[in-house]
Amino acid sequence: MSNIGSYDERVKNFSWKQAENELEYKEGQIINIGWYCSDRICEMGKADKLALIWEGRTPEQQKKFTFNDIRGYSNTIGAFLHELGIRPEDRVCLFMDKIPELYFGLLGILKIGAIAQPLFSAFGDESLFVRLDNASTRAIITQRKHVSKIHKILDRLPDLEFIIIVDQPENKSLKEREVVFNMEASGPSDHLDIYPTKAESPSLLHYTSGTTGQPKGVKHVHYSLISQYLTTKWVLDLKDDDIYWCTADPGWVTGTSYGIIGPWSLGITQCVSDSGFSADSWYQFIDRHRVTVWYSAPTAIRSLMKAGDDLVKKYDLSSLRHLASVGEPLNAEAVIWSQKVFGKPFYDTYWQTETGSIMIGNFPGMKVKPGSMGKTFPGITGVILDDATGEPISEPNKSGLIGFKYDWPARMRTYWNNEATFQKKFKNGWYLTGDKSTIDPDGYYWFIGRDDDVINTGGHLVSPFEVESALLEHEAVAESAVVSKPDEVNMEVVKAFVTLNPGYEPSEELELKIMNFIRKKLSPLAMPQEIEYLDKLPKTRSGKIMRRLLHAQEWGEEIGDVSTLEDD
Ligand code: WTA
Repeated sequence: MSNIGSYDERVKNFSWKQAENELEYKEGQIINIGWYCSDRICEMGKADKLALIWEGRTPEQQKKFTFNDIRGYSNTIGAFLHELGIRPEDRVCLFMDKIPELYFGLLGILKIGAIAQPLFSAFGDESLFVRLDNASTRAIITQRKHVSKIHKILDRLPDLEFIIIVDQPENKSLKEREVVFNMEASGPSDHLDIYPTKAESPSLLHYTSGTTGQPKGVKHVHYSLISQYLTTKWVLDLKDDDIYWCTADPGWVTGTSYGIIGPWSLGITQCVSDSGFSADSWYQFIDRHRVTVWYSAPTAIRSLMKAGDDLVKKYDLSSLRHLASVGEPLNAEAVIWSQKVFGKPFYDTYWQTETGSIMIGNFPGMKVKPGSMGKTFPGITGVILDDATGEPISEPNKSGLIGFKYDWPARMRTYWNNEATFQKKFKNGWYLTGDKSTIDPDGYYWFIGRDDDVINTGGHLVSPFEVESALLEHEAVAESAVVSKPDEVNMEVVKAFVTLNPGYEPSEELELKIMNFIRKKLSPLAMPQEIEYLDKLPKTRSGKIMRRLLHAQEWGEEIGDVSTLEDD
């Protein structure tokens, strides 16, 4: 029997109070995610239960932690930060690979009432700068290998007081603002004064990319736990004896909502792998740890598909009980393939950094229609909004923007330092997702595409604006336009069109140099996979670059109205 049981019954009788009751939370009381994910689980008698099975680059690099360990280590990190002078609501960035300190650090930050700002460790100096600058971050916890990127931008970050290094070798001297913290040498600590955060106290700041302007800091609060707990329970169906594997990095929202908060607030054992993707190593990981519930992403699934069916047969994957996916369109073929090779489909789920928790999904026990994202989570009111009027469309199968009634616990509270942009996310009282879809007569959502130019490459959102700006900083580039182009595995990848400054000639060597420049400055994800040289870029009469035209060309689509295109 699945946790959700009958979806229809749950919808009929729904109240978030159910999760509040299960978590023994009452309105107005203290609610602290750090405490809920560790101390409470220990108090419930699961102190010795495994919370984390961690693996580094090789299987031999394995560490295991009980709930009592994560309680103790998060206390130690919280106490260390407090001693440094970190105070409630200060922003503390986590800039690390998927090492244990990242997971326990997040809980430690939350325990002292500070705001955790996780950032993907492959970010280059410019990506890092705009996010630390926007949040006026006070401290960053990182690994030695990432420190040089921080020093490059330190002059421009007067508010960043502490660079906390978790793996500093003893014989190395410290530079400006550097502090050393060694979690294991410090040992777990039995006590910490947990800051009495309330429902609306800020918890996490996750950055997401938009079409124009800088990345936006999505502010979440401790009350988000209510949604994250219940969606984990009902959609991912986690049960006491499960071994759960969420493949997402906590630099992105899936890696925190469902890679830390959801599973640990339920007292579930999870595995984490800090090695990169390979079909072989992923299957081995599942086999070795007897993973039962697996939450992953379409690009990974398509890569596994490409690796072939024979590879699957080499491993014993019979432990797998439930599979789910998020982040980008999960094509019907991938669902059908999964049914064939794993004996069960991947259950698609849909949500956003802004929503904080799963909004639409395929629930255990529900009929899966391959290619559909599923139905709204109980308690969520979703609609399709008419393009012209912005009002909900009542007939099925009509396309429009997905809108939600803004009333679930994990919804973002604002964009950090950017309330004006937050307010633009609403029309006629509906929260606008920016995604287009239809709903069929059975209530299933069928994703069509985004309503903006943001590129979703392998499940990661990349802003064409950020890449264009970074390209202009390369000495050879005069103008740039960035669009997506189709890709078999990642669905879409970044492509750049550039015109060159006088004195520079198009060449493959220059293309590689520019690519590398972007990879270092922004990230490997934002790096264009192709650079096309043009003599001039298509522009409107007012001088705006027509990305739409270049996009249509890449996707072989009708070009549409070009009446505003600049004359020759
Ligand atoms: C896209 C990730 C199709 C969508 C949790 C959304 C999806 C954006 C799906 C959010 C899905 C997410 N099918 N597209 N099942 N899930 N998306 O903020 O465009 O990194 O708006 O949050 O990913 O990406 P974000």
